[in-house]
Amino acid sequence: MLLRRKLCVALVIAAILFLMLASQSIQRRHLLPLSLALPISRATPTDRETVVERTGPPSLLTPDPPQTPSPSSTAEPESEEEPLEYSQYDQRSCGCKESCISDLGGSDWFSQRYDHKQQPVLRDTNNNFDPEALRWWLGLQRSGNDQTLEEVMAKMFQVISPPTVDFRPLPYHCRRCAVVGNSGNLRRSGNGDLINSHDFIIRMNKAVTRGFEKDVGNRTTHHFLYPESAVDVGRGVSLVLLPFKLRDLEWLTSALSTGNVKMTYMRVKDRVEADKDKVLVVNPVFFKYVNDRWTERHGRYPSTGMLAIIFALHACDQVSVFGYGADKQGNWHHYWEENRYAGAFRKTGVHSADFETQVIHQLAKEGKISLHL
Ligand SMILES: *[C@@H]1O[C@H](CO)[C@@H](O)[C@H](O)[C@H]1NC(C)=O
Repeated sequence: MLLRRKLCVALVIAAILFLMLASQSIQRRHLLPLSLALPISRATPTDRETVVERTGPPSLLTPDPPQTPSPSSTAEPESEEEPLEYSQYDQRSCGCKESCISDLGGSDWFSQRYDHKQQPVLRDTNNNFDPEALRWWLGLQRSGNDQTLEEVMAKMFQVISPPTVDFRPLPYHCRRCAVVGNSGNLRRSGNGDLINSHDFIIRMNKAVTRGFEKDVGNRTTHHFLYPESAVDVGRGVSLVLLPFKLRDLEWLTSALSTGNVKMTYMRVKDRVEADKDKVLVVNPVFFKYVNDRWTERHGRYPSTGMLAIIFALHACDQVSVFGYGADKQGNWHHYWEENRYAGAFRKTGVHSADFETQVIHQLAKEGKISLHL
């Protein structure tokens, strides 16, 4: 009996409580189920506001906070100030005040040619070679090789370190590069300090600086070469191999280790001094890209100078070009040569000097490089 009475009292209390809560929730949220109404009625006003905002349809239409333009930022968690800082740079992908090369728009001519997905250098994994590009590259200079590119690369990466550089633009960085050709027009240019002021300074082939510092500067960060044009590169300089054939990769491996490769189609330097941790090898697929999209198949394949400029467009945010083309008298020679008629570039029939010159001038016209002639 006592138990039943207690149970009755409990039931009545429960019923009263239920009615009180129910009426409260009906007042507040009309017909919202009790289970949902409870947490809301307990919530502080600001919390309730956010809950309502999130469930209400208008929130679907509120725009997301300004996003950083791809491809620079991939999966980085955004700090709260980031969008604000971006607006200062007018949504640029790099940190340069003026402009970033990889930001398209403004030049249709450039956008039609520039492919930001290109991998300019070989990495030891995930190269994903386009078979057609590879076949084209293997046909450039046959070297009677019975190994595959993968096999040659595997041996190469036992000697050199796989590159860790990432060429994608970064929002707070401005990589200003000077590409320094070897033209005689650098003589008495007085460009040494200007060239030295860049973050990266790319030189090529037999380039020398000693004795010409006033005109060409004395700093080098990257030196582009191939076996037949090889020189020792200084301490801290990145040797960048332009492989025109499979044999060139074997030469690199050898030149930095045993020195047993002494010939390509001619006698070559069998050892080369370079920092093995800084060596880069240009991707064969990149040669095809430059040939198809930039020199448009004029000439059999692009020249070192052309490859270096297009490489810089993919590795830098701003590019200044020095030492290209003929000198003021129309002579093609190197700045260190006394013989002004030594014409090195014009005579190499495999490249189209005229078309490459046109492309370089167009790049300047489109504001993508600054050309110092
Ligand atoms: C370049 O020249 C400057 C001034 O003469 C000198 O201080 C500097 O060490 C040189 N740098 C290199 C890399 O030779």
